[in-house]
Amino acid sequence: MSLGWTLYISIITIVNILAFLWLLWWTAKNRSNKAENEDTGHVWDGDIRELNRPLPKWWLNLFYITIVFAFVYLVLYPGLGSFAGTKQWSSTGEHDADVKAAEDKIAPIFARFRQQSLAELVHDADAQRLGASVFANNCATCHGSDAKGAKGYPNLTDGDWLWGGDPDTVLTTILDGRQAAMPAMGAVLGDDGVAAAAVYVQSLSGRNVDDALAARGQAHFQTICAACHGADGKGNPILGAPNLTDNTWLYGSDFNTVATTIRSGRNGQMPAHRLTLGEDRVRLAAAWVLAQSATKPDVEAH
Ligand code: HEC
Ligand code: HEC
Repeated sequence: MSLGWTLYISIITIVNILAFLWLLWWTAKNRSNKAENEDTGHVWDGDIRELNRPLPKWWLNLFYITIVFAFVYLVLYPGLGSFAGTKQWSSTGEHDADVKAAEDKIAPIFARFRQQSLAELVHDADAQRLGASVFANNCATCHGSDAKGAKGYPNLTDGDWLWGGDPDTVLTTILDGRQAAMPAMGAVLGDDGVAAAAVYVQSLSGRNVDDALAARGQAHFQTICAACHGADGKGNPILGAPNLTDNTWLYGSDFNTVATTIRSGRNGQMPAHRLTLGEDRVRLAAAWVLAQSATKPDVEAH
């Protein structure tokens, strides 16, 4: 805060408090021409008479106490512009201290988990309990509280992985996030090409389709799509390109959904959690996810 603002705020604040003090002193004095306890001559409801009485002492003193309090407070705590107060208190400082206290409390618990591999954490009841709560608070909004996902948000329990399901890969996915890039092919293929490619994609997972159309689609697939999805359509976990031959679908397998995917592209985004959650919590979430999965790792295998 600049000196100008500091002076502006400090002067207004102090002058106001002093003016209040003066007002108290001024109104506490008997300034009428009537003596104390003398009848002012005001009458209400026929028989209620107003006497010239001073303000009650206890009431006045309460006001003086609030003024003393205000000055003490403004010396101890920030209030006068950029003056930080003699206690050097700040809301961020208090927040940081609270966070540190909580971290110190939980640090020994995390220290134990740090010694263990992800596969071991999958079989550790305490780690699972904490991992479940990390997941519920940070991941369930997108993946569902049972981790079964929704359209565009992958099911994490089915053992079918876009980016790979071994423990280290899952950890990397959660720490650094993933950005899928399925390009829009509408302009390249035209409406007919999109329809043919969609039908061919449907045939890959064993659906009955128009063979002639599928054959045209296959030609497109081999020139354009195979680079990412593989010549056999089984996908590529390095790119997050899904296997198109199974019955697991991120966006949907009906003709319109597949055609929309091909025409307009898809850009599923898994946010990075390294900075927001920190590695300790991410490892616990990863271990919980792995424990829910059909590809749950064994302790011995890792
Ligand atoms: C804002 C929504 C969102 C949040 C929050 C989120 N995810 Fe994701 N996650 C996604 C999306 C979308 C994908 C799929 C990305 C793609 O299309 O390839 C994904 C992918 C994943 C994958 C890879 C799945 C696979 O098949 O390879 C894992 C594992 C995962 N998330 C775990 C988590 C965990 C654990 C958390 C919490 C720490 C979390 N996610 C929080 C949206 C989210
Ligand atoms: C540059 C690489 C790339 C190319 C080229 C590409 N795809 Fe994809 N495709 C992806 C990725 C990555 C995803 C996952 C998108 C996401 O997770 O949001 C995807 C998703 C899809 C899906 C959705 C699958 C589901 O489970 O819902 C279909 C269908 C698909 N692609 C078909 C095609 C077809 C057909 C072509 C060719 C015309 C094609 N792709 C070309 C990378 C590619």
